[in-house]
Amino acid sequence: MDDATPLAASRVQPYADLREFIDRCEAAGELVRMKGVDWDLEMGALAEIVNHKRPEAPALLFEDIPGYPAGMRVLSGATNSSKRLAITLGFPEPSHPLDVVRAYRDRMQTHRPLPPREVETGPIFEVIDRDDEVNVLKFPVPRLHEEDGGRYIGTHDYVIMRDPEQDWVNAGAYRVMVHDEKSVGLWMSPGKQGRQIRQKYTDRGQPCPVLICVGMDPLLFLASGNELRFGLSEYDYAGGHRGLPFDTVKSELYGLPMPAHAEIVLEGEITLGDERMEGPFGEFTGYYASEPSEQPVVRIRRVYSRRDPILTMASPMRPPSDFSFSKCVMKAGMIWDEVERAGLSGVTGVWCHEAGAARLFNVIAIKQAYGGHSKQAAMLAANCQSGSYLGRFTVVVDHDVDPSDMFDVMWAMCTRCDPIEDIDFIRKAWSGPLDPRLPRGVTTSSRAVIDACRPFERIKDFPKVARASPELLKAVEAKFETILKRI
Ligand SMILES: Cc1cc2nc3c(=O)[nH]c(=O)nc-3n(C[C@H](O)[C@H](O)[C@H](O)COP(=O)(O)O)c2cc1C
Repeated sequence: MDDATPLAASRVQPYADLREFIDRCEAAGELVRMKGVDWDLEMGALAEIVNHKRPEAPALLFEDIPGYPAGMRVLSGATNSSKRLAITLGFPEPSHPLDVVRAYRDRMQTHRPLPPREVETGPIFEVIDRDDEVNVLKFPVPRLHEEDGGRYIGTHDYVIMRDPEQDWVNAGAYRVMVHDEKSVGLWMSPGKQGRQIRQKYTDRGQPCPVLICVGMDPLLFLASGNELRFGLSEYDYAGGHRGLPFDTVKSELYGLPMPAHAEIVLEGEITLGDERMEGPFGEFTGYYASEPSEQPVVRIRRVYSRRDPILTMASPMRPPSDFSFSKCVMKAGMIWDEVERAGLSGVTGVWCHEAGAARLFNVIAIKQAYGGHSKQAAMLAANCQSGSYLGRFTVVVDHDVDPSDMFDVMWAMCTRCDPIEDIDFIRKAWSGPLDPRLPRGVTTSSRAVIDACRPFERIKDFPKVARASPELLKAVEAKFETILKRI
């Protein structure tokens, strides 16, 4: 599992926009078009049915949505398979999900942030609604789950804010609920960089300008939906992966950079004390964990879109969801990269299991080289920027265990881990209201760090694994090939 992959080395020519991405997915057999699906619950239910049926389900493109102009479409699950992730990141086709994780980690060894290029105009200016013309419900915004407090226009999104102190542009994926035609609620969990930036405007007594991009290149979504280091713009990070800068145009009101090829962008501001009840919303851990609460309102004053725009959606639910697989792969690659940057050697794989919604059950595999190596690996994986938020269990296994195979990981835990000796706890780590196990108002939780490696001091005389050698297996498989094929 520790072979370097050639995947990252050869970069595929980037697609121009979401539409070309869709064409490539369709050509690869990775997309299903569905007509006549209602925005009210049917899109959410179909995302659940399809993604619960198959581990790597296709993307769904909802067309001819009842009550909406024929050209308007909604895309679910843009990046939720190994092949679509490879298309998004510009890797050749993988044969195993860990190929993408490894390719990501390899890419990061030479990755350099590439700032966007400001251009005068772009397709996002094809249609502009100003002030009184604004109506965000002109788009087929889904109501995803039965108990949701409203229609959510922002799930697979890219919410852009400028840090007023350090003058850099952050983007995050945060849920955005429609209150009415001209206002939406924005929910950012404590500790998120977007929330820290909003707080800076509040502290200065200034309105916080916001762009909410709800249809765009899925590479931008991979950047906005995962934790990057503070101060690194998601535009620059994504541009580095693309190998070409993203084209941006200035928004009319606040001069914020919006992707020139985006499908739909809302522009507005949050003003001090302007709050409204937001939620409930079925969330990624599989629960309605956070109570409805007063959250900042974004007053929308501009709506920019392409003609026949495509709204992108990511429906959180009891996992797997239409984005949880993608999150597993990205998080795994990011943790691998970060622990190595912190100086760790010997990592042979990382996986963030979908059962833990890619956050709550993360596994790192290492080839042990010294006493304490496994503890160091597990603690780093549990505490690095990508692994820290809303975690629960971090497991470290030896390199003969496949971290993406839950059976294998459980076997290692059952046979190599002594609970009293090998499980440590981290107290008061970063969490938030979406953790169903936390009491209301508490934003930190504990972590169990589970060392499921053979004890280093016994590594040479630890009982041998009882299984046939690869040579014996190969020979017997070849000899009984015909009958084995029938089993
Ligand atoms: C589909 C999806 C929806 C998300 N929704 C939210 C949300 O509503 N609020 C939130 O704080 N984080 C949410 N996240 C996680 C953040 O996007 C993630 O932590 C990101 O790093 C935040 O950006 P920031 O670090 O720049 O603030 C979501 C992630 C994904 C993939």
